Amino acid sequence: MDRFEIRGGTRLAGRLTIKGSKNAALPLLAAALLTDEAVTLRDVPDIADIGNMERLLAEVGCSVARQRAGDLEEAGGVFTVKATDLSACHARYDIVRTMRASICVLGPMLARRGYAKVSMPGGCSIGERPVDMHLRGLEALGADITLDAGDIIARIPRAHGKAGRLRGARVFLGGPFGSTVLGTANVMSAATLAEGTTVIECAACEPEIVNLADLLNAMGARIEGAGSPRITVHGVARLGGADLRVIPDRIEAGTYMCAAAITGGDLTLDNCPVDALMAHMDLLRHAGVTFVFDASGDPMRATCRVSMERGPLGGRGLRPVQATTQPHPGFPTDLQAQLMAVLCLAEGNSVITERIFTERFLHVAELSRMGAQLFRQGPTVIVSGVRSLRGAPVMASDLRASACLVLAGLAAEGVTTVNRVYHLDRGYERMDERLCSLGAQIERISDREEATLGAPGGVA
Ligand code: EPZ
Repeated sequence: MDRFEIRGGTRLAGRLTIKGSKNAALPLLAAALLTDEAVTLRDVPDIADIGNMERLLAEVGCSVARQRAGDLEEAGGVFTVKATDLSACHARYDIVRTMRASICVLGPMLARRGYAKVSMPGGCSIGERPVDMHLRGLEALGADITLDAGDIIARIPRAHGKAGRLRGARVFLGGPFGSTVLGTANVMSAATLAEGTTVIECAACEPEIVNLADLLNAMGARIEGAGSPRITVHGVARLGGADLRVIPDRIEAGTYMCAAAITGGDLTLDNCPVDALMAHMDLLRHAGVTFVFDASGDPMRATCRVSMERGPLGGRGLRPVQATTQPHPGFPTDLQAQLMAVLCLAEGNSVITERIFTERFLHVAELSRMGAQLFRQGPTVIVSGVRSLRGAPVMASDLRASACLVLAGLAAEGVTTVNRVYHLDRGYERMDERLCSLGAQIERISDREEATLGAPGGVA
């Protein structure tokens, strides 16, 4: 398992191009299951979760052609997916357990084939991750859903001896934590081939849902209201192929904004979705970060300069803020850990409350190992700012917690070792190389290297 050795203290400076969104690309790739024609997606990030989805699509009867991107700062890869074997309908446990987002193949596969078998995703380090709202939504469309040996078995009942079809319905997707992003993706995708009209109430409003609706409409679907809490889908008999660009990754962009903030740096981000980051940018602005961008073009693909001036007494100049995670357009839970790293060095006490995944605090203990002063009370953490963090060996536990620890290592005195960076590689494309291009001092050490170099620690 790879680890990062990070020598902190460098102020980052330079330019980055934000890659395509992991959380948009996954349901977009799954949408190819709704048609027999080829679906082409552009600017797909080169990350582990996309590789997992590529394997999953091949397992459920799709041919996947992939052109990798060239230079790191160029646009991402191009995927062309074509569902060819409709009989392969089982998303098996050994893939689903590595990527719970695999659940997003359930709706499309069921709607097109009348049958789908998807391993029930387990929990993960940020919480239980139930899918009850997905299943209730598909049942509302007429699906017959059972559980058998850990698998979700979804069928469309046959009608008059012929293969049945889902039926349009009014579906409520609200839950105790707001809506469900992938649940909305599943129900919206399935409803495109239903007979009649579906109204999804309390739909997720995330930009990734808008990107998915754009693809589905380009394939011939008739979807209105994506991005609002009420989505209307007029069912059609079949969908065709399409060619679409994946929206930029707002979480990647928000993470690099935090990197500028925590190092007192000055970064220019190209292809930056400022329109999808207003809550995050508002919090960072309150914390003292300066943004300069021109949104007159496409505010989802702006050029945004992010800078952080040092404080008057040579301090970091970071001010404390109060943040609560909420469904979009509120402050995203996927940036909670990264913001916490920044606020560890603010001059005062900040308050962070996690309302989406109430256990999403595994980074708290690791930050405390670096000298952060953090006090958790249930879903809330008080962050009492300190003048500096000290490098230490720390353990990554999930994708965004690992990003948080890398950010803390960039600012800490001395060397921070972030172990198990395979978590990071799931959602950030070559983050070590890109941070080094901005002046960071990071070395990726893989066990293979150590084995060839002899004694632990790479000493031959
Ligand atoms: C998506 O997960 C994202 N993943 C997550 O990003 C993100 O944190 C999450 O949305 C919230 O924004 C992808 O898009 C691949 P939810 P999803 O269903 O759709 C509860 C990352 O780091 N819930 O919106 O699985 C659930 O427990 C990942 O990139 C139910 O109770 O999340 C949670 O508390 C992590 N029943 C809340 O709803 C359900 O059936 C929101 O979950 C579904 C969800």
